[in-house]
Formats: sequence, structure tokens, C-alpha cells
Amino acid sequence: MKKLHTSLSIENRNIKNRIVMAPLATWFSDKSGRVNEKHITHYGDRTGPGLMIVEATTVSPEGRLCAEQLGIFDDSQIEGLKKLAGIFKSSGALPGIQIHHAGGRSTVEYNHGLLPLVPSKSAMKEEKECRELTIEDIHRIQSDFVRGAQRAIEAGFEYIELHGAHGYLGTQFLSPITNKREDQYGGSLENRQRFLLELYSMVKKAIGNQAIISCRLGAAEKDGLTMEEGIDTAEKLKALGMNTIHISSAHTIPDLDLIPKNDFSTLINMGGIIKEKTGMTVIGVGGVKEPGTAEAIAEAGIVDMIAVGKAILCDPQWAQKTIEGKNDSIHVCIGCRRCFWFTTPEKCPVRIKREKAQR
Ligand SMILES: Cc1cc2nc3c(=O)[nH]c(=O)nc-3n(C[C@H](O)[C@H](O)[C@H](O)COP(=O)(O)O)c2cc1C
Repeated sequence: MKKLHTSLSIENRNIKNRIVMAPLATWFSDKSGRVNEKHITHYGDRTGPGLMIVEATTVSPEGRLCAEQLGIFDDSQIEGLKKLAGIFKSSGALPGIQIHHAGGRSTVEYNHGLLPLVPSKSAMKEEKECRELTIEDIHRIQSDFVRGAQRAIEAGFEYIELHGAHGYLGTQFLSPITNKREDQYGGSLENRQRFLLELYSMVKKAIGNQAIISCRLGAAEKDGLTMEEGIDTAEKLKALGMNTIHISSAHTIPDLDLIPKNDFSTLINMGGIIKEKTGMTVIGVGGVKEPGTAEAIAEAGIVDMIAVGKAILCDPQWAQKTIEGKNDSIHVCIGCRRCFWFTTPEKCPVRIKREKAQR
């Protein structure tokens, strides 16, 4: 049996195979932040992965990355999220969700009038409408993450991913470029790590073993953490009790001597470095379009699970076909990135072509 197809057990939870549906924002919601029929269809269409992660879902009304982002900041949002967890479970996947705060990547418009909050105002462009976080704000946002995690449990999720990558609030604290604070949350690496490490401990204390608590960590980013700092951050999360980590990065990564030269993406190899250095269960991501690539990564044991993003947007049945060996019937993502961010998956040219052919 191919390694990719084998199950694994994390914190006593069985995951049927090593394919993960990466968190992929749809922007299908509205000001309410609630799940609607479009989400149900979108997620319901995608079957096959062992773990499926609902897109970045904001824990605070002022932490939105777009005006139509999903939310987990109000009890009225639980019912819809419960439907998504149910859809994942009925497909045999472990139901996961990514909880998020955009910090300075938010805008007044995205927040429906609320001012974005940032670690350091001095690190932002002068014209940026925002306010610097007070210590009280920091603690309130950490509590929002805790409440978000509790709502996720109520909705039935068993994997909760804290967003610590891609330039959002977690990263804004970690990076010396966006964090110029002079209090206990800024300055030294230890201080810059404080927000995320405290956050993990608080969520862990609140929900215990009711879900796997992971983090999507930008382990090395241009203008962010260095790889050594990323390893240090992962090691500290592990020391606090985290077993599983999802390694990613949104910005161009500097040429890293540590990255081995092989057929896989820099991001996948970054995940491999974190696995090797920390011994954590690592989800790797980045550039997997063909089943053969995912199979080769799994076989080489670079990371434990392989998250797939654009390829699953392009062909909703990518994971199912991969597991069934129907590789030839996969509609392969051409990497045009038209699905990226503020456009919608419906604009995928491969999908448009396919739908035309089916008519
Ligand atoms: C349309 C789109 C939406 C995304 N939304 C999220 C998100 O909500 N949270 C996140 O951490 N990453 C998000 N990403 C990044 C993906 O999870 C993934 O890391 C990235 O696409 C690289 O993997 P791939 O090469 O398999 O696509 C998004 C990417 C795309 C293309």
C-alpha cells in the first residue's frame, strides 16, 4: 500500500489517509460571518482527504481579512459550522478548522466600520487607518481565540489550527518588521513569540484533549522569522504540549542553505526541516498538483501529511481520485493563480473548460 494512503493516529484520533484539504478562503459569507448554502455545496463537493480544514475563520469582528470572511466570534455562527463539520465527518475526514485574526491586514471596510488593530502603529504605512493594540486588547483577542476554539468544539471540530503564518496577527507579532513594541510582547525573539505561545497555552487549557490543537506556522519568511527562529518557535510550542504543526509561508522565502535540493517545493522541505528538528507530526504544503508528487513526498517521509490547496479547488475530487488510483481522470491545476484570494474558485479556467465540455 502506498504510504500516502495509509492511516495515522494523532492524539488517539484516526486519520484515514495523509491527504489534507488545506484551508482555502472562499469569501462566500457576508457581514454575519455565517455559513450559507454556497459553503455547504463547496465543501460537500470535496471528498477524499483524511483531514479537511475549514478556511481562515475570524475570531474577532475586527480581525477580518475581507468583508465576506467566515466568523467564529458569535454563538449564532455555530449552527452553520456544525453543518460543515458534519459534512466532513460523513465523508470520513477528520473535521478541522483554522481560526484567525488578520490584525493589520484588515481594513475598516473589511471590518464593516471597525478599526483594525496592529502590534505597532509605527510599522504601518502612515495612511493606514488602524490603532495599536493595548495590553488589554491583546488579552481580549487571546480570549476571542479561546472562545472561538470552544465554539469550534461545540460545532464538532476535532482539529483546530491557530493561524501563525502568512502575515496575519500571529506573524505580525513574530516579525521584527511589524512588531516594534517595547513591552513584553516586542523586542527579543522570546517577547515576539509571547502572543502565540500564550495563545496556544490558553486554548489548550480551555479545551484540553477535545481537539488536536495545531498551528499554521510561517517558519521562515522574507521580513519575518528566520528558519532558526522558526525551529525555535516550533520547539517551544512542542514543549508546551503541541504535537502537530502545519508549516507554511506566504512570502518569498530567502535562499535557505538548510533547504535540501530535491524535486519538492521549498515549503514542503521547510516542513521537513521542522519535522527533523522537532520530531513533531508535520503537515507540509506547497505546489502539490499531481498525485505522484504527494505520493513521493509521503514515501520519502519528508512530512507526515500533505496539504493540497489549489489542486483541490481545481478538481474537487482530487483526493478521492488519488486514493482510488484514478490519476488520469484528475483535472490538473495549471497554476494560473486566478483562484488566489479575492477572486473566486469558480473562475478556475480548468473548471470552466471542464464544465463546458460536460454540457
Ligand atoms: C483561493 C485560496 C485561498 C486560500 N485561503 C487560505 C486560508 O484561508 N488560510 C490559509 O492559511 N491559507 C490559505 N491559502 C493558502 C493555501 O492554504 C496553501 O497554503 C497554498 O495555496 C499553497 O498550497 P498549494 O500549492 O497546494 O495551493 C489560500 C490559497 C488560495 C489559492
